[in-house]
Amino acid sequence: MEKSVFERLLSLETPVYYYDMDLLKETVDSLAETAAAHGVKVHYAVKTNNEERIMRYIASKGLGADCVSGNEIAWAVHCGFAPESIVYAGVGKTDKELNSALLAGIGAFNCESPEELRILDELAGRCGRKARVCLRINPDIDAHTHHYITTGLEENKFGISRFAFEEVVGIVKSSENLIFTGLHFHIGSQITSVREIFAVEVARAEEIVGWFESRGLRVDNIDLGGGLGIDYEDPDGNPVPDFKGWIETVSTFRRRPDQILHIEPGRSIAAQCGSLLSRVVYVKKGETKDTVILDAGMNNLIRPALYGAYHKVENLSAGFLRKDAPLHSYDVAGPVCESADVFGTKRLLPETVRGDLVAIRSAGAYGSVMSSRYNMRGDAPAVFSDEI
Ligand SMILES: Cc1ncc(COP(=O)(O)O)c(C=O)c1O
Repeated sequence: MEKSVFERLLSLETPVYYYDMDLLKETVDSLAETAAAHGVKVHYAVKTNNEERIMRYIASKGLGADCVSGNEIAWAVHCGFAPESIVYAGVGKTDKELNSALLAGIGAFNCESPEELRILDELAGRCGRKARVCLRINPDIDAHTHHYITTGLEENKFGISRFAFEEVVGIVKSSENLIFTGLHFHIGSQITSVREIFAVEVARAEEIVGWFESRGLRVDNIDLGGGLGIDYEDPDGNPVPDFKGWIETVSTFRRRPDQILHIEPGRSIAAQCGSLLSRVVYVKKGETKDTVILDAGMNNLIRPALYGAYHKVENLSAGFLRKDAPLHSYDVAGPVCESADVFGTKRLLPETVRGDLVAIRSAGAYGSVMSSRYNMRGDAPAVFSDEI
């Protein structure tokens, strides 16, 4: 970060989410180019970050959207995503949500159970629409990531397990209102062994696609989901994730010329461009440790409390104004009345004082969208680098 940017940040009220729009653009452009070179279609996972400016930039590059609720679909359309580029996953789509997605004319319902398929069939029939259906398969793969963000294991609630394959083939074949378009997989998030783990997904997807085709269904679309990890330890060293490694790996899927590959990145697009900026309210001296108490809390960024997730914490004030400050070990905590409201323990930071501006890095994904009003605290608003 340039000193002039830091000086402008000093005038902001905290806590606040700061988005580096140059980095967002570099990231999206790099992804769009790599995907286009391999003929892969990209759908941005809206759940990651739904800031209108971010969504509009992504839509302007021709990417589609991956939504998980009726509200996300409406918002994606508002932000410029073409309805036919929208894919819709989720284990609990309600009748109201299914009906509005049918009327919007979305690209695919990624259906997660035989029960959902039967309801969608009925609703589509009632409103005289055809529903384009992709079956979300539970591939039973361990993505070797955090327990809460692995989604492709048999024990997870997501997707159709192999025990129901014959049943869903029967439903889509006999339905007049469902148009079978392909298969969908998503094995988890924050996957860092990119070439190894996604190669396992590709192999399993090839096997399952083959099985469905052997039952007489043409699998024209193969959606391999999201999951590409980012470097939380060194956001400046690796600001743009390994799109090349990921897309080259998914492109090894042996497909016919008429089969289209899709991916659904979220974190890898939005995480690194966002930081949660906060001020130090107190430095609390303890008997065995010192704790930096921030004005941002777990209600603004819950990932550390929820998953024990690591976010780099940087003292910007010390970095720019007190370059020779000695390093000191701190716990970094928020003000919320929960022991889990801790952003990091034993962090080596330059000696920190009340009023310092601190950045919690890589917070653009699953940050602001997961915030709450717990303790009746306020939201951290968004500011964009080109607006300050
Ligand atoms: C179905 C689906 N697609 C895509 C994503 C985005 O994953 P990521 O942010 O890891 O790229 C998720 C995240 O949970 C998901 O559930």
